[in-house]
Amino acid sequence: MNGAGIGTAEWVMERCDDLTRHSSRADALERVYLSPEHSAANMAVRAWMLDAGLDTETDAAGNLWGRRAADGTPQRPGTPGEPALVLGSHLDTVPDAGRYDGMLGVVLAIAVAHRLRDVPLPFALEVVGFSDEEGTRFGKALLGSCAASGQWDSAWWDQADADGVTLREAFLQFGLAPDRVGDAARDPADLVGYLEAHIEQGPVLESANLPLGYVTSIAGARRFVVTFTGEARHAGGTPFSRRRDALVAAAHLVTRIEELARATDCLATVGDIRVEPGAVNVIPGLAELTLDLRGRTDDGRDALWEQISAAGHDIAQERGVKLEVVETHRAPSTACAERMQAAVAAGIREATGTTSATSAAGAAAPSNSVLGLWSPAGHDGMAMDAVTDVGMLFLRCRDGISHHPDEHVEADDVGVALDAFTEAVLALAREQEEAR
Ligand code: GLV
Ligand code: MN
Ligand code: MN
Repeated sequence: MNGAGIGTAEWVMERCDDLTRHSSRADALERVYLSPEHSAANMAVRAWMLDAGLDTETDAAGNLWGRRAADGTPQRPGTPGEPALVLGSHLDTVPDAGRYDGMLGVVLAIAVAHRLRDVPLPFALEVVGFSDEEGTRFGKALLGSCAASGQWDSAWWDQADADGVTLREAFLQFGLAPDRVGDAARDPADLVGYLEAHIEQGPVLESANLPLGYVTSIAGARRFVVTFTGEARHAGGTPFSRRRDALVAAAHLVTRIEELARATDCLATVGDIRVEPGAVNVIPGLAELTLDLRGRTDDGRDALWEQISAAGHDIAQERGVKLEVVETHRAPSTACAERMQAAVAAGIREATGTTSATSAAGAAAPSNSVLGLWSPAGHDGMAMDAVTDVGMLFLRCRDGISHHPDEHVEADDVGVALDAFTEAVLALAREQEEAR
């Protein structure tokens, strides 16, 4: 391990760099759920957790946990003890990812745990590296945090990756027992809250010239696989009147999706299309596309889906093709708990000396505080909200770019975030002590 001391911004930046080694691709960062790289990243992060004074455990869904008791003693996660405040984020990535989405929040949480290692707290402190937030491998996102929040659905076991490996098979290959997944579920009585630091993945903080903001809510998401089935035929011998071209139907739907979404305050993205048989001189007989929908409210998002679904059926009928839809992921919009928002805002105020009131994107601003913003991007808190109060700290990222290798955060901003996140933990500690 090189130079910088644990707990510093430089250490956090270096560890995010280190984690890029654990990738399935030599030319890019990609680390998906239950892969050899997932295992290697867990091993690396485990060592840092131990250095920070945490004892560690991998749970029944491949999430990595570290824990110290209220008095600062390292304590095995899962052993009975005081309720815990959990800090963390995820260690999996999208394809060709940046190095901060998720990883920054895990490493920063470890650095904060190190800073507080000699400080007695009124609760235990845990750090988690969730195993699957992105849903890159199996289409269903938040698998790690759904297991930790007791929301595992046995319908997911047969979902397969691009190579046809099912989630059940991947569990076994990773050395996990599918029938034990319920053991990963946390009891709400054992939790004080869940706090996550994450890059913003958007332009709001940069535009406002601020390093940090607190999150007010997280958008609700749904994901679908939409399949048009027509007929594969000769590209030369088949006149237009005889064609049932699945890709042309899909293309019409893609542009219609954008039109429909632009008329709302929701976001809709077709991120992938697969065509069969996929030959230059064959009319596509099958086109399968993915759809990612997000809305500030679940009702708005669902209303948009109804319009998209109707458009898909109309297009299928006009073009004589069959339409099938499978929903692969659904997560409700999630409000960050008032007390967690207040703690993160207090941490930011403490770390930055901010006194003036600001709010962005219609977000509510508690007291005379710092910038509050909602998150169109998804986060593990959407699942953890089922078992405990959730709060988030956002860090400015350059050009708002994320899910791209150019993702970048400044070390100076990480330094302020470390101070703010530490102060947020201490604010929650004070609140708990006052309530006693
Ligand atoms: C996760 O990054 C998501 O919002 O898709
Ligand atoms: Mn992401
Ligand atoms: Mn993320």
